[in-house]
Amino acid sequence: DRQGFAHFMLKEIYEQPDVVRQCLAAYLKPGWDSDQDASLSSNPFNLALPDELFATVSEIQLVACGTSRHASLVAQYWFEQLAGIPTRVRSASEFVSAPFPLARNTLTIAVTQSGETADTLAAIAAAKRRSSPAESSLQSWLLGITNQSESSLTKAVDYTLPTLAGTEVGVAATKTFMAQLVVFCCLALEFAFRRQALSPQQLAPTIAALRSLPDQIETTLQHQHEPIQTIAQTFANVKDCIVLGRGINHAIALEGALKLKETTYIHAEGYAGGEFMHGPIALLDATVPVIAIAPAGSVYDSMLANTEKAKANGAPLIGITTVTEPADRTVFAHPLTVPAIDELLSPFLTVVPLQLLAYTIAVQRGLDVDRPRNITKTLTR
Ligand code: F6R
Repeated sequence: DRQGFAHFMLKEIYEQPDVVRQCLAAYLKPGWDSDQDASLSSNPFNLALPDELFATVSEIQLVACGTSRHASLVAQYWFEQLAGIPTRVRSASEFVSAPFPLARNTLTIAVTQSGETADTLAAIAAAKRRSSPAESSLQSWLLGITNQSESSLTKAVDYTLPTLAGTEVGVAATKTFMAQLVVFCCLALEFAFRRQALSPQQLAPTIAALRSLPDQIETTLQHQHEPIQTIAQTFANVKDCIVLGRGINHAIALEGALKLKETTYIHAEGYAGGEFMHGPIALLDATVPVIAIAPAGSVYDSMLANTEKAKANGAPLIGITTVTEPADRTVFAHPLTVPAIDELLSPFLTVVPLQLLAYTIAVQRGLDVDRPRNITKTLTR
């Protein structure tokens, strides 16, 4: 039931505030941040993973495909930058033939919305074989993150963290990506807390920020409607589009480009802002719009510098920025704003305008958004 929405994809995009609420209700203990004195030294998270896992893991490897791989790239940033744990991400389809060198105390996390993606199951099977008794001195852990708690994945791993997004019907993953981010963020923060990479005092504002995410996503959704209609009309017939992001939003640039490709069939490419300057910038002219993800934060100035170079090459500019940066309006012909947010949590908001843009352009082009050509929801072979 689409509940009044024209398509499942749109309904699922609008469900994201509730999805975040549900995941936080499951994974975050209530009241931790309000009861300062009594509880700040206690663990705010509810992930039900063994203490030994948190104590012993020295490396994390993430295997996934498509959108789930993009969530893993955001998570890599959190595991490394918040918890200080070396983390690698590999496409599940590449991991099977070229696994990471096996290290002691590795946590392998397979991420799959459906729990049935053949490549991801093959990767987890490969990881399992390698940590078999013959090599048992290399203790390893297998964890699954999935939206299907009864799936082939859950049978193959030691532990599962469900994403609690409810059934996703649209082929383009939206709300399940959001739920994957919530689960990953809680996991990275629990590592950071237990390993004292973050003190309870440092953790408190982040937890408070997580709790305000549902409202902020709602605000983001409200703010996009009008400008996105205009942008979709202006750019409905372009052939190519570039999405740029830096730091933690590099992964969101990749995800935005994937959403555009699969729903609108526009050739969209996501790049790290700096890397784009090393050759691909030659692609630009007035027919190739550039979407720059530039929320306030440590990479804001360098993103703006990249954007100005794109503008000098004649590219029309769409900017995803925070409301607090009014200067952006002059750089970007088409600003899309999100509420002010800590840079580390910004992917929760910056992905939303990209999902809506992909959806709106696809509708504008008269395409079947919920069932794009050539792809199935679950790639089991
Ligand atoms: C993109 C999309 C695909 C899936 C990929 C992995 O919107 O839906 O790229 O993300 O096929 O699927 P799961 O997460 O089920 O393993």
